[in-house]
Amino acid sequence: MIDPIIDFDALWQAAIALPSHLSPYTVHGPDHWRRVERNALILASQSGANVSVVRLFALFHDSCRENDDYDPDHGKRGAALAIAWRRKYFDLPDELFELLHYACNWHTDRHHHEDPTIATCWDADRLDLGRVGITPHPKYLNTGLAKEIALHGSISPWLHLVVHRF
Ligand SMILES: [Fe+2]
Repeated sequence: MIDPIIDFDALWQAAIALPSHLSPYTVHGPDHWRRVERNALILASQSGANVSVVRLFALFHDSCRENDDYDPDHGKRGAALAIAWRRKYFDLPDELFELLHYACNWHTDRHHHEDPTIATCWDADRLDLGRVGITPHPKYLNTGLAKEIALHGSISPWLHLVVHRF
């Protein structure tokens, strides 16, 4: 399937302008989203994940968090925002949109999935747990590369795999 053309700059501007980002809660904010996007692109170079979906996941999955602590419904709200913004800021074929929606909806409740795109989304998010002092354990990861990175303790040796230029 050919990747759709998406204006990610416009999407990011809209997401960063969401009212919640006026708050000081930034552990799950845009800096984290960017690292998740970078991680996802690194993993996608080997996992076969759909690049548009993993980049959209990075933007949406924590976009509707109301705090940095207990917010069990933030994934569902992020998935709902993706529905609301579909065909306004971006579009995806139904098959790909369903992957995006599922990945956002379940990203905190579930760890494993056999679909390489969903698996890459979730691994990319968990590989950024170092920002809150947690080293991700390989048993909670899906892709071989994410497990290798977690065991190494740093993603630095793999940064050259990011082919996208922000
Ligand atoms: Fe996240």
